[in-house]
Amino acid sequence: AAKMLTHRYWGAKLPRVTDYPAAQDSEGWAAFNGAGQLLPYEYPAYAGANYIDPCLKLSFADGVRDTVLEFESSEVLESELRIHLRDAHYPLRVTLHYRVHEAFNLTERFVTVQNTGENLVMLERVFSAEWHFPQFEKYRLSHLAGRWFEETQMHRERLTVGIKTLESRRLTTSHHHNPWFAVDTGSSSEEAGNVWFGVLAWSGNWKLNAEVTDFGSTRINLGLNDWDFALPLAANSSFITPSSLAGFSSNGFGGASRALHSYIRETILPHRETLHKVLYNSWEATYFNVDETSQVELAVIAADLGVELFVMDDGWFHGRNSDNAGLGDWYPDEQKFPNGIAPLIEKVNALGMEFGLWLEPEMVNPDSELYRKHPDWVIHFPTRERTEMRNQLILNMALPEVQDYLIDLIDKLLSSHNIAFIKWDMNRNISEPGGLEGLEARAIWVRYVEGLYRVWGTLRDRHPKVVWQSCSGGGGRADLGILKYADQIWVSDNTMSLARLKIQEGFSNVFPAITMEAWVTDSDPKHLPLEFAFHVCMTGTLGVGANLLHWNEESRKIASRLIAQYKEIRHIVQFGHQYRLRSAFSGAFSSLMYVTKDASEAVLFAFRTHLSEPVTLPPIKLQGLEAQSLYKIEGVKEVRSGTAWMHMGLDVQLQDFRSAVFKIRRVES
Ligand code: DGJ
Repeated sequence: AAKMLTHRYWGAKLPRVTDYPAAQDSEGWAAFNGAGQLLPYEYPAYAGANYIDPCLKLSFADGVRDTVLEFESSEVLESELRIHLRDAHYPLRVTLHYRVHEAFNLTERFVTVQNTGENLVMLERVFSAEWHFPQFEKYRLSHLAGRWFEETQMHRERLTVGIKTLESRRLTTSHHHNPWFAVDTGSSSEEAGNVWFGVLAWSGNWKLNAEVTDFGSTRINLGLNDWDFALPLAANSSFITPSSLAGFSSNGFGGASRALHSYIRETILPHRETLHKVLYNSWEATYFNVDETSQVELAVIAADLGVELFVMDDGWFHGRNSDNAGLGDWYPDEQKFPNGIAPLIEKVNALGMEFGLWLEPEMVNPDSELYRKHPDWVIHFPTRERTEMRNQLILNMALPEVQDYLIDLIDKLLSSHNIAFIKWDMNRNISEPGGLEGLEARAIWVRYVEGLYRVWGTLRDRHPKVVWQSCSGGGGRADLGILKYADQIWVSDNTMSLARLKIQEGFSNVFPAITMEAWVTDSDPKHLPLEFAFHVCMTGTLGVGANLLHWNEESRKIASRLIAQYKEIRHIVQFGHQYRLRSAFSGAFSSLMYVTKDASEAVLFAFRTHLSEPVTLPPIKLQGLEAQSLYKIEGVKEVRSGTAWMHMGLDVQLQDFRSAVFKIRRVES
């Protein structure tokens, strides 16, 4: 249709501009079909006879509820293309932004909606992008789903006619689904085949609609969740959506995740390519029973093992003896720390380690001074009972006074102590979503996250050296939005190695190892050796979370050795390219490796869980090496070419519940 913007092509880069196909045109078929069921509208608004899933839905002040967007102009500003659309009648401008991140083969899209008139416009859905797949193919959707204690499980399923929705209505990104998709025609593998993939960089409610129309056209809409959502756009104001990024890989799912990893590492992470330290976290050792003596006891052993950063978890602040009380009162508990936490920090520093602290800034227990003072600061409906989960309520981060209070409080804490690391936790989902008034009421979903970003961003600016971890009862807030603020993510509260193999593999489809904090704890069953737990955690950013007082001499020796080994390989793991060689989701023998960007070094991990005997394990075919160069694998006699290791593979025979790690380096012939 005239002036309607349509999509042309998404796939392998075409060499010449003239290779790109011309726009299709169609007025639809017969009385019952709108053009949008086949025509790939670039950013469809609800209008006319379009029964497809729209990206934009709004109401004008006079009650008109459709939006007729027409092409107005386009401009290129450095690496950004802007396409300006205008409503055919109302003073409304929609700008589609496209940024090409050529080095990573990714395209970033977001949208500005501008009300240029005098009357209010109510936004009821404003997605970031619609991504179209080549038409008349049948597709398979890969996505990550799970729950608390079992995040990021891989799901792959056929898309058939209709809409498949993935979403969060929980205020955070959620443990349940992640705003990531990978689409293929059904036969792509880790290293071969075409994969179209994308994400949404947002840490609040989101929605992904994968639609297959009755005419065989497949598209994915991705953006802020429109559930319980309405955002008023006042006269002469505008709203900018979060970004959606997408890319095309002809090297399978591995190629897709490596593009995201490099992009996250090199452009999003606040500290970019700074190696993470090996940390110790006290949570699973002392739970709420922290005090100076117990923490120092642990710190002495941790330092001896080679730990570089000691993090005191929950339990240190006023009145916090269980999860019943204390959240909100962020000053040291007088019984546990009569002289504050400075003496502990000094002792930790004297042991040669940096000090980190746990906070849950967005939360308050009804049994706290903060709540008694400001009962209206929490998200609630005045006429409804306030649902408590883990005995806590959520501070209304949409309120500037709450934001300012938290900025001031955490700023003071960081300014007056030598704190190098903050674990920022968030331990419940929303209920009774009240907190903004009138027309703004249903904008709380967006205003909350904007408030969170403002608080965290201001603190980062004021304390640029501090390293932050995003935690929400494990992996409840893992997304590309939070990674602008958080340097790493606590992937899951589940620290059992066998579960972790899958959780971490799922996670790695989106996030690089440098963001994947993983601790060795005491939660494995006896038949799993400590090495196994270490090897699992060494595939990410290694930490220890066990009760070290219970570790015997032998365990401590193993830990020291493996922490030292991790320090030798961590630049490969944290900065390298990841190859998932054998999936933990599809077998008891799994393997992955990391290769430095210049392919001069690599590290290979292999894990065997339970396989019935007798069994000979197949050779592991390596990836990412230079074909012609020679590589030496630590502990293996033969020196072979990259091609040989990649095609013949390495013979690794492991017993049940055993694991191995191999350092690999390029050598002169
Ligand atoms: C949930 C986190 O995921 C845990 O690691 C721990 O910090 C607890 N909260 C503390 O309450």
